[in-house]
Amino acid sequence: MNVTRRQILAGLAGLGVVGLGAGNMRYWLGRPENVATHDYELIAAPLDVELVPGFKTPAWAYGGQAPGLELRCRQGERLRVRFINRLSEATTIHWHGIRLPLEMDGVPYLSQLPVLPGEYFDYDFICPDAGSFWYHPHTASGEQLGRGLVGPLIVEERVPSGFRHERTLSLKHWHVDKQGAFTAFSVPREAARGGTPGLLSSVNGTHNPTLALPAGQIVRLRILNLDNTLTYRLMLPGVEARIYALDGNPVEPRPLGKEYWLGPGMRIELGVLIPEVGQEIPVRNGPLRLATLKGVASSSEAAGAWPPPLPANPIAEPDLARAEKLRFNFEWAGAVSVGVEQGAAHSFWQINGQAWDIDDKSCVERPIATLKKNSHYIFELRNLSQYQHPIHLHGMSFKVLSSNRKTITPYFTDTYLLGKNETAQVALVADNPGIWMFHCHVIDHMETGLMAAIEVV
Ligand code: C2O
Ligand code: CU
Ligand code: CU
Repeated sequence: MNVTRRQILAGLAGLGVVGLGAGNMRYWLGRPENVATHDYELIAAPLDVELVPGFKTPAWAYGGQAPGLELRCRQGERLRVRFINRLSEATTIHWHGIRLPLEMDGVPYLSQLPVLPGEYFDYDFICPDAGSFWYHPHTASGEQLGRGLVGPLIVEERVPSGFRHERTLSLKHWHVDKQGAFTAFSVPREAARGGTPGLLSSVNGTHNPTLALPAGQIVRLRILNLDNTLTYRLMLPGVEARIYALDGNPVEPRPLGKEYWLGPGMRIELGVLIPEVGQEIPVRNGPLRLATLKGVASSSEAAGAWPPPLPANPIAEPDLARAEKLRFNFEWAGAVSVGVEQGAAHSFWQINGQAWDIDDKSCVERPIATLKKNSHYIFELRNLSQYQHPIHLHGMSFKVLSSNRKTITPYFTDTYLLGKNETAQVALVADNPGIWMFHCHVIDHMETGLMAAIEVV
């Protein structure tokens, strides 16, 4: 049986998760119970933006801005987004870092059919964890994310966090030339190395902005790396900054130190003491300035104290004593590209000897690992290459335990930046049934093989 788009629109796919057998195809198609109401109507559409002064860039935007509209909800509550596609091509939305049911995960042909031009899709899920998350398509990712379809999703704590001020900084480099025209989002020789970098930096869609913040106050900065390929060496020299959360999960507050490597898809939340009126502090990527924070007069408020740690999220604690160990090797295998002259995607990367083919919808039927529901696992992540890979898992968060390259204070995340030749151990409880994508978040690595599916049954 083949599932038609009309059947889905007519609601024949039914409620919740439905496994529809099509031969041995396993596509899950779902439809939220309540399509009558939603919290946001989010439109994806073309939008000309001025990244280079005096020139227009034909971006694609969510909610009329690129990066997209900041969506917010409260921990434990439902977020309902009616997503309307006014692009000229099919797309989906994936909610990066949110532990949600598979049919809301935005993976085409697995979670849902792609949303065609002119169609809409109602996303409806509970946000179990407070923190800084984000959303983006999971279709034609190099171009769709590259053109600006990336946006922050902020889940607020149930109770006040102790921060009275906050600001989101969405970091993205744009693949544009000096006239603002798009350049290639992925070129093979770069995809086979560190990924194809954009050349123009931006924070919240503006190159090198100055952000006014209340002088003398402690501000929660949510810094999100929404870039396709770049790892930012984040530095805030000359200011007191403490890390409060990493990738959507609280940590015991600690000084930022000299720098923090924020890979694609990763987020960091800092408490930052904003200096006196008129003083400026740079936000830098290594030696390069991304933005300037400037102290401006605020109300006659007294200086705030450093807030306590943020409350932990309700993530199941893996029991290492009974965890089963699984090994995942990430390696370069550029010599195996076949059929590229005939239009096939390049294949430069593999996980455990298998390359994902973005043109082959049946890849999801061959999960690289099958986990037993509610069992405990340690993943050993081995990078056998000279390039770093931000390794991301959908559907579940995992705890980073140790690395052969650095000292780790264990913490929960959805994306771990695996350095060159690094081996790291992470652990999780497989408590979310489904088929979950497991991939490098350097988009052109992911699109040239570095992706797999992990099944939880
Ligand atoms: Cu941001 Cu498949 O993920
Ligand atoms: Cu994700
Ligand atoms: Cu990678």
